[in-house]
Amino acid sequence: MRKIYMFDTTLRDGEQSPGVNLNTQEKVEIALQLEKLGIDRIEAGFPIASPGDLAAVNAVARAVKNASVTGLARSREKDIDAVVEALKGAQDPRIHIFLATSPIHRKHKLRMEKHEVLEAAEAMIKYAKKHFSQVEFSAEDAGRTEIDFLVEVTALAVKLGVSVVNLPDTVGYLSPYEYGNIFKTMKEQVPGIEKVQLSAHCHDDLGLATANALAAIQNGADQIEGTINGIGERAGNTALEEVALALYTRGEFFQATTGLNLQEIAKTSRLVSKLTGMPVPGNKAIVGANAFAHESGIHQDGVLKEKTTYEIISPATIGMKDSKLVLGKHSGRHAFREKLVDLGFEGLSEEQVNAAFGKFKDLADRKKDVSNEDILALLEEKIIETPEVFALEQLIVSFDSHKGPSATVRLKTPSGIVSHTAEGNGSVDAIYHAINAQTGEVVELDDYTIKSVTDGTDALGEVHVVLKQGEYSAQGRGVSTDILEASARAYVDALNRLVEKRQEPPRTKRDRDNVTLI
Ligand code: KIV
Ligand code: ZN
Repeated sequence: MRKIYMFDTTLRDGEQSPGVNLNTQEKVEIALQLEKLGIDRIEAGFPIASPGDLAAVNAVARAVKNASVTGLARSREKDIDAVVEALKGAQDPRIHIFLATSPIHRKHKLRMEKHEVLEAAEAMIKYAKKHFSQVEFSAEDAGRTEIDFLVEVTALAVKLGVSVVNLPDTVGYLSPYEYGNIFKTMKEQVPGIEKVQLSAHCHDDLGLATANALAAIQNGADQIEGTINGIGERAGNTALEEVALALYTRGEFFQATTGLNLQEIAKTSRLVSKLTGMPVPGNKAIVGANAFAHESGIHQDGVLKEKTTYEIISPATIGMKDSKLVLGKHSGRHAFREKLVDLGFEGLSEEQVNAAFGKFKDLADRKKDVSNEDILALLEEKIIETPEVFALEQLIVSFDSHKGPSATVRLKTPSGIVSHTAEGNGSVDAIYHAINAQTGEVVELDDYTIKSVTDGTDALGEVHVVLKQGEYSAQGRGVSTDILEASARAYVDALNRLVEKRQEPPRTKRDRDNVTLI
C-alpha cells in the first residue's frame, strides 16, 4: 500500500468560502483537531494578506507539534518573507508558493510570456529555498496549461530541488481521465520526477473534485490537498474525508492508504461546520446527517437482515456513536464522565465536567430522550471560550397575533445587569432589537440559520448567526430546546466574538482577489 500524504487547506482555501472568517483561536482549535485526525500537512493561511492572517498562521505554527505547518505565498519576495515570519516557532515548517501557468492566466492576469513565467518561478523557488528546506511549488491552473509547458515548469521545479510539485485543477474544469493523465505524463516525461512528491489540488465546480483526486492517486500522486467538508473557494475543494474513506473502503483497488485516524472524522467535520458556520448538507457523502440513514422499506429490511446489503461504511468507522444516550435524568456524575470520554472529550477539567453535567441535567429535565447528538451539541456550544462581555440572563417573549411580538431581554453587560423590552416584525427580530438597545454595538445581521439537532418536537434547536460591523464579522452559535432562546444565545455569542475580534490584529487588508494575483 502506498502512503498518500494528506494536505489540509481548510484554514486557507476553506476560509476563502464566502462568509467564512475564522479568528486566531478558532484556527488554532481546528488545527489541533486536524492534528488529532492525523493530517500530515496543514496550510494555516496566507500571511501576506493581513497582519491578522500572519498572526493566526503563527499561532497555529506554534501550537501544532505533529504535523507540518505551511503558509501560502504568491511568487513574490514580500509574500515569502511574510511566510518566514509567520512560521517562526514551527516544529516542521514548509512554504507553499504558487504561480499561474495556463495561457488564460498568463495572458489576462499575469501579462507574462512563457519564458517570463519560468524566470519568475526560478527566482522565487531559489528565494524560498534560502529560507525553507521544504518548498511546495504550485502551477496554478495546471489543469488548463499546455501539457508541454507544464512538463517544462515541473522539470524546472524538480531541478531547483522543491519537495512537492502541486498541479491544481484551479477551476474544477477537468474530467478524472484528463486530470489523471497530467500525473501520468509528468511521471513519464519529467527527468528526476521520482525526487519530488506530486500533489493534487482539485476544485468542485463540476462536482468532480473527489473523483479527480482519486484519478490523480491512480496515476501516481503522492499528496492530496483538500478541506474538511469540502468547503472552499466557489463550489469548494476535494473533501478529504471522502478521499480517506474511498481509500479505506476500496484499499485493494487503489492500493493506497492515508495515515488518518478515521475515528476523528465525524468530530472534525462537526467542529469545522460549527466554527465556520457552514452547515453540512444532509446528503453530503461520509459526514452528512443522512449518510447512514436508510429510508425506504426495502433498504431498511435489507439492513436489518444484514448491514452490508446497503451499507458500505460503518458509522463507527468515522467515530459516529450509537445515537441513544443510555444515561437518564437520574444518572450520576461518574457515568456522565465516562460518557464524555466515550464521545471523545477526554482530559476535561473537573470544572468543565461539572458545567457539562449541569447542562445535561437541565436538558434531561426538559427533553424526554437525550441522544448523543444532543450531548455533543451542548458541549460544542462553548467549544471556544470567548470572553463573555455580554451574557444572557433572562428572556421573556410574548406573541399576540393582533399586536405582534415583544421581547424583554435581561443582559449582563460590563456596566451591570440591564433589561430592555422591544417589538419587532417577528419574535427573533424583537429579541435582537432588545439586545441591540443594551449593548451599544451597531451590528448588521448577515446570516441566520436554524436546524434541529435531533427529531421530535422537543428536539434541541441550533441557531447560527453571522454579525457584521464594518470590516469585522463574527459567527455565533446557540443551542436550546427553545428556538427563541437558541436565537438569543447565538446573537449574544456572536457579539462577544465580535468584541474579541476587534482586539486582534486587523485582517482588513485582505483582498480575496489578491490570492490569484502575481
Ligand atoms: O486552486 C488553486 O490553484 C490554489 C493554489 C493557490 C494552489 O488554491
Ligand atoms: Zn484552490
